[in-house]
Amino acid sequence: MERTLVIIKPDAVAKKLVGRIISIYEDNRLEIIHAHRVLANREVLEKHYEAHIGKDFFEELVEFMSSSEMVVLILEGENVVEIVREINGSTNPAKARPGTIRYMFGEGLTKNAVHGSESVQVAKKEIEIWRDLIRFEN
Ligand code: CDP
Ligand code: MG
Repeated sequence: MERTLVIIKPDAVAKKLVGRIISIYEDNRLEIIHAHRVLANREVLEKHYEAHIGKDFFEELVEFMSSSEMVVLILEGENVVEIVREINGSTNPAKARPGTIRYMFGEGLTKNAVHGSESVQVAKKEIEIWRDLIRFEN
């Protein structure tokens, strides 16, 4: 079964939105197969955001993502990668479709509440990147 990696980012955890966000995924019949609250370090974030190293927003992004705890989720379901990207909404909350998580809870481009892997291939890679830190075994 297809899997994806979701991060409830530090802004949303600080605002106590974890339960509401998880409910949105569950309401869409996706299975939460692992959930782990963790303070990310620079090392894992450089792997996770490897494609963005050197971009003008990279330092601010890493600072924010390591500033307080996040909740890393692994979700499973048919077509889960694409469904999660739809539920999350556009990267920029100001441009996100009403009803999406980023529309409802995002504060800005960096503090946009959630992450979801962008493809099945990337999801597999991201699950491996986070595996040690979130003690995910199966
Ligand atoms: O997360 P998503 O795949 O939608 O967007 P991305 O283009 O892969 O960018 C990764 C993350 O970098 C975003 O979710 C934003 O938090 C952040 N970002 C930013 O802070 N400023 C930008 N101009 C673009 C992205
Ligand atoms: Mg991306």
